[in-house]
Amino acid sequence: MPDYAPAQNLGDIPAWTQVPPPSQPGPQPGDDTPQEHAPMEMIIAPDFSNLEAQLDNVDLLHMSTVAQVPYLPSSKDQAQNVMKLLEGRRGRLADLGAGDGRLVFAASSVGFQCTGFEINSVLVAYARSKAYWRGIPSSQAVFVKKDLWKTDLCSYNNVTAFLAPGVMEVLGEKLLKELPQDALVISCRFPFPNWPQKSTVGSGLDQTFAYEISSVRSHLRNPPKTEMK
Ligand SMILES: C[S@@+](CC[C@H](N)C(=O)[O-])C[C@H]1O[C@@H](n2cnc3c(N)ncnc32)[C@H](O)[C@@H]1O
Repeated sequence: MPDYAPAQNLGDIPAWTQVPPPSQPGPQPGDDTPQEHAPMEMIIAPDFSNLEAQLDNVDLLHMSTVAQVPYLPSSKDQAQNVMKLLEGRRGRLADLGAGDGRLVFAASSVGFQCTGFEINSVLVAYARSKAYWRGIPSSQAVFVKKDLWKTDLCSYNNVTAFLAPGVMEVLGEKLLKELPQDALVISCRFPFPNWPQKSTVGSGLDQTFAYEISSVRSHLRNPPKTEMK
């Protein structure tokens, strides 16, 4: 099965906002049904007229960054796995690539002060509107339209990420530089190469991994003898 096999619950986000997985035909404008996605339609009304002129204005560098990590919402099981791994934790949580905010909402409901960083402004608007309609205060959940690679994460002691295999190594380097010693990092589906796991929950596409930054740092400083050359 490909890494980006669709999750089961794509339900509450319009199909046309989803970046298609490589080599699969993606959803088309108009795939949405108005009855199912009425709240979203109140926020954005996509204008597909004059598409050619609109495409001329696309920032290709921005597009290539986004394309590296496509939008794919966490499945219910995956979100539950994240919550299991967060048990016993508290404080500030950053979700890197927050999508429609589902991990942020799950974590904020158990007391974390969450920030969802997301580069796609449609998804940021959607997540903010969900927070508004659910009455979630900004002290519990905020959504920031920001490139995670340009965001300093030093004030977060919990980080969640569901990104892509190709970015895990460089993300690991960034987190090791920035996170406090007591931080916990949770990655959905894609493990960090060469990081010792604290624990893992689930299997297959829903497998989720937890890492303690202090243990990762000491492991990398003093690698087990068998790994030394
Ligand atoms: C696989 S989706 C996960 C969405 C959400 N966290 C969830 O679990 O449902 C990855 C998300 O990362 C976002 N993303 C990709 N590159 C990003 C970047 N450089 N900065 C912030 N968000 C980014 C994408 O737009 C997409 O919404």
